[in-house]
Amino acid sequence: MQPILEIRGLTKTYKGGFTALKGVDLTIRKGEIFALLGPNGAGKTTLIGAVCGLVRPSGGTIRVFGEDMQANWRSLRARIGLVPQELATDMFEPVLRAVSHSRGLFGLRPDPGRIEGILKSLSLWEKRDEQIRALSGGMKRRVLIAKAMAHEPQLLFLDEPTAGVDVELRRDMWKQIADMRDRGTTVILTTHYIEEAEEMADRVGIIRQGEIVMVDEKEAMMRRLGRTEAHITLREPLLVVPESLSRFPLTLGSERTVLTYRGGDGSGQGKADVAEITKALTLAGIDYIAIDQHESSLEDIFVDLVEGRVAGAGA
Ligand SMILES: Nc1ncnc2c1ncn2[C@@H]1O[C@H](COP(=O)(O)OP(=O)(O)OP(=O)(O)O)[C@@H](O)[C@H]1O
Ligand SMILES: [Mg+2]
Repeated sequence: MQPILEIRGLTKTYKGGFTALKGVDLTIRKGEIFALLGPNGAGKTTLIGAVCGLVRPSGGTIRVFGEDMQANWRSLRARIGLVPQELATDMFEPVLRAVSHSRGLFGLRPDPGRIEGILKSLSLWEKRDEQIRALSGGMKRRVLIAKAMAHEPQLLFLDEPTAGVDVELRRDMWKQIADMRDRGTTVILTTHYIEEAEEMADRVGIIRQGEIVMVDEKEAMMRRLGRTEAHITLREPLLVVPESLSRFPLTLGSERTVLTYRGGDGSGQGKADVAEITKALTLAGIDYIAIDQHESSLEDIFVDLVEGRVAGAGA
């Protein structure tokens, strides 16, 4: 299937000379939810800005819906929705008018029924006559989402859509976003809440210092980089790791009372290993008093990648 978005060799050097994107290659499939994760300053907003025509690329190509973005900017932009990270909108406009107006900006006919549906789904209908400036931060963010949905985009960018939104509402918004995907919209979002990516994304891309360090299916990433870590506290100190346990990736702490296992691959091997280890300890007559076991989450993987503890693999 033809990708909905194809970015090749995208670079961006800002006026001051700072290079925010260093040759990004990224392919987005039609109908997926793609989460772009990266620390502050990694280049996420720059990347989104380049696709949405807000940032002029220094090099590379962007093809959207199979067409070159630069050559057909006007017609392509109308099929893209953007929820910007910064709240930049006319704060004096009432909610309903602002959202309805967004359709007109892209040359679409008014559709009050659709706008009502969007506002209701984002719990904004009761606030429709309020000026945007009178809303709370989380509500303002929802207005931005409503504006981006108003012109029925086929490709929707959400730059930190749930920053400053409370937990309950965040869950509602995840549902809205999933519903949009189910109706055929392709969604690219950035987030600092790894849980958000874990919950929603089909694929995850990790960007660090202007480079994509990894792109993969979320499940595959967790299988490939997921690990089990277990700390087994022994009743008595041990001098060495017993021979019968030498096939396991075990280390003995400096106080010789904690055996640490680090291994597995997210497929359940780690848990099975730990069970084997406890059996072997019992057989060897070694008593333990506690086991603290932990499966790595997407968050652990993300932190490891960003801090350069594990090597990334191609886009
Ligand atoms: N207009 C600009 N002029 C110069 N440098 C810029 C400009 N906009 C962004 N940068 C720099 O480019 C880098 C990437 O910024 P960007 O906003 O894309 O990061 P981000 O990944 O979105 O970060 P955050 O998670 O904080 O939103 C940063 O170092 C930033 O200072
Ligand atoms: Mg940003």
